[in-house]
Amino acid sequence: MNILILGSGGRESALAWKIAQSDKIEQLFIAPGNAGTKNIGINLQLSVNDFEAIKKIVLENKIKMVIVGPEDPLVNGIHDFFLSDKELGNIPVIGPQKLAAQLEGSKEFAKKFMVRHKIPTAKYQSFTIETLQKGFTFLENLDAPYVLKADGLAAGKGVLILNNLQEAKKELKEMLTLKKFGDASSKVVIEEFLDGIEMSSFVLTDSENYVILPNAKDYKRIGEGDKGLNTGGMGAISPVPFADEEFLTKVEERIIKPTIKGLKRDNIPYVGFIFIGLIKVNNEPFVIEYNVRMGDPETEVVIPRIKSDLVDLFIATAEKKLDEFNLEIDERSATTVMLVSGGYPESYEKEKEISGLDNVKNSIVFHAGTTVKNDKVISCGGRVLAVTSFGKDFEEALSKSYQNIEKIQFDKMSYRKDIGFDL
Ligand code: AMP
Ligand code: GLY
Repeated sequence: MNILILGSGGRESALAWKIAQSDKIEQLFIAPGNAGTKNIGINLQLSVNDFEAIKKIVLENKIKMVIVGPEDPLVNGIHDFFLSDKELGNIPVIGPQKLAAQLEGSKEFAKKFMVRHKIPTAKYQSFTIETLQKGFTFLENLDAPYVLKADGLAAGKGVLILNNLQEAKKELKEMLTLKKFGDASSKVVIEEFLDGIEMSSFVLTDSENYVILPNAKDYKRIGEGDKGLNTGGMGAISPVPFADEEFLTKVEERIIKPTIKGLKRDNIPYVGFIFIGLIKVNNEPFVIEYNVRMGDPETEVVIPRIKSDLVDLFIATAEKKLDEFNLEIDERSATTVMLVSGGYPESYEKEKEISGLDNVKNSIVFHAGTTVKNDKVISCGGRVLAVTSFGKDFEEALSKSYQNIEKIQFDKMSYRKDIGFDL
């Protein structure tokens, strides 16, 4: 079977690496891919939001399944585009349709969904420019810190956590009146602050059934000790040591099952990954957010821990037979550490030659922001490489990642040396 993966990051590299191991795969295409996926399959240059261009390559290359990496094309309706096209209608797309993608595309949509289905989450209200004064009153009745979220997609930057009431009011006004995050902040969700420790659950559903994938914890801040600006993620660990069986049972019973049932009850078809951002408060799980895709860098630890054939898993998903699928998981821990460009997450340096990749032993290097120029692998993004390792526990896995990182170099390369520090 010929398969296409859409995207170009570490997440898509990990998916490609695993799919390529399947004996079901004939040709694997990655669009646009990176310098690493070029060695795993065939990279095709196109934009993940150019649906007509995607249609053309799908038909030309007899592609029989499409795996969507990032959220953008899902929120823009790539799955709906396939379903409504005569020539593409029978080609399964792993990733939900536009309606369900609103779980990530609109914070308010997600909040209303959780309230409707009694899924534990922080109390909230949403406000627009017309209800700004009510927003101020709502803030006055909350305790600090104040959580303000742009309703729409804001490239991971749309959430502000503020300690001071005056500052919170000022930010709310700027989000609504000055469109601080563009149209994404024409509506703002204000939430009660939850104090706890975060982790993520990953589910694959075929609309009827689901399988629970390995869980993970990522490290979002650029600086050690979780200081500094938010990034896409600087490293990840799977499984999460503090998520014991009792807690995971609560997650399944109170969050995963009601989510799958709620989608059905609301007539929202969903074929694809659900990434549930959770916070553990006094041993109770609450949902911070839904994403309609896998996480990056979480994928770089979740996918390697899946022992089952990933193509078989996706075929079972497309055929709505996940209830018959026996998912095998590697008991070992996996960790990944991201190597990032100088300056990231603000404007960063690019086109740095990467050396030492061939010296890596006992780790897997997943490419993220890399490309090839004059036969050399160079950086082209903020997050450049993810170094994943296995171990009997996360400490052992991490020490392998860190040992191998010593062998890799590019100008101004940096990384967090404290992944897992809080566990
Ligand atoms: P989100 O984009 O909704 O995942 O929010 C980004 C980050 O903000 C989360 O990973 C949390 O660290 C933090 N956050 C979001 N909502 C809350 C909340 N209600 N209480 C505490 N922290 C939150
Ligand atoms: N690592 C967080 C995300 O993928 O959204």
